[in-house]
Amino acid sequence: MADTMNVLLIGSGGREHAIGWKLAQSPRIGTLYCAPGNAGIEQVATCHPDLKSNDDIIAFCKKQKIGLVVIGPEQPLVDGLSDALREAGVPVFGCSQAAARLEGSKAFTKDICRRYGIPTAAYETFTDAEAAVKYIIAHNAPIVVKADGLAGGKGVTVAETVQEAIAAVEYLMGGKFKDAGKSVVIEEFMTGEEASFFALTDGKTVRAFAAAQDHKAVGDGDLGPNTGGMGTYSPAPVFTADIEETVMRDIIAPTITAMKAEGAPFQGILFAGLMVTEEGPKLIEYNVRFGDPETQVLMARLESDLLPILLAVAKGEGLDKVDITFKKSAAVCVVMAADGYPAEYEVGTLIRGIDAAEKLKDVQVFHAGTARKGAEIVANGGRVLSVTALGKDVATAQKLAYAAVDKIDWPEGFCRRDIGWRALGRPAKIS
Ligand code: AMP
Ligand code: GLY
Repeated sequence: MADTMNVLLIGSGGREHAIGWKLAQSPRIGTLYCAPGNAGIEQVATCHPDLKSNDDIIAFCKKQKIGLVVIGPEQPLVDGLSDALREAGVPVFGCSQAAARLEGSKAFTKDICRRYGIPTAAYETFTDAEAAVKYIIAHNAPIVVKADGLAGGKGVTVAETVQEAIAAVEYLMGGKFKDAGKSVVIEEFMTGEEASFFALTDGKTVRAFAAAQDHKAVGDGDLGPNTGGMGTYSPAPVFTADIEETVMRDIIAPTITAMKAEGAPFQGILFAGLMVTEEGPKLIEYNVRFGDPETQVLMARLESDLLPILLAVAKGEGLDKVDITFKKSAAVCVVMAADGYPAEYEVGTLIRGIDAAEKLKDVQVFHAGTARKGAEIVANGGRVLSVTALGKDVATAQKLAYAAVDKIDWPEGFCRRDIGWRALGRPAKIS
């Protein structure tokens, strides 16, 4: 057996719990650490909320002989943590700061799409509110207004009327979003079905990982304001093998080529938010990290050992040889959030019954915003639990996920009751 390796995971969400849960099962894992972690990640890793700065993390890696750092969220990537670790000689799964612009700046990504012929919505970028308003009036609604920079999922308005679009420009450029709102991207409204697609590259080889579908709106039937994601399922029947081939050829491959040509080669995971339109798949946006809650369903379905996959990407070689196989099952993840989310919500409320939910076979309850208070688990964020179930098809996985949700006793929490609805009633084609 190959030598074992100590791994440090960065993050504190449901995504990181799912990654940690999967890494902990690797025959090659030595000690798994997580910074900062949460009350669920504690079950699979030694958590270090004390590691704050890049220097703290590098010193820790040297001391604990870390062979791989896995960065979950976008902020440390945009802040250059990968570059600092690479300079210190620590293998890291996470793209460079320069490559993270694909997520950090919508204007940058749209410009790449235009110059390299990558299918996406028609758009224009503005730094002047008056010019933006003129463009909106000329193009009419529906139209989409986006903050250029990272705005925590709150920077996008799909405007049904011209007035709504103008209000969004004023809101974004009014100063509340600081630098993220200095410029806005205004784009054509696309119709179709959305999918989240993930591709990996070690800088030499590019491989498809998997697709999932997220439910962004807070309410059943996709109503209400957008959130970070209220639930996911995988595989997504809308994302056929043909569509995957088209996306790899017309969207992912030219992006990787473009980033090389721009002097910011991409090495990591590329998460394409796609709209499957009548004209074919088009890019909505890129993220440069695993999705949350997409990762929960992908980890539940992943058959292969995750560690060699992430290590090949980090080391810049060997991705062509690693095994990437998914179970022939479907997974559904239902997010339980604190009442009020995505607006104001309470923290510190008591959650019971997680153990009972996890006793169900093929169920995992990944923690997002949780904390431990003595022997109890309390809510400590907006999205709090990712209740994830595996089944022979989406319908079976959905039923099991809700059976698990119903074991959880948390009066101050809520969830959507329709996660996976788009896949039901369609032939379940599991590939
Ligand atoms: P983003 O943060 O760019 O992924 O946008 C958030 C959500 O807004 C997406 O998941 C879509 O539902 C919607 N959206 C963004 N851009 C467009 C577009 N051009 N046409 C239609 N819907 C869009
Ligand atoms: N679930 C969407 C995201 O991770 O950005």
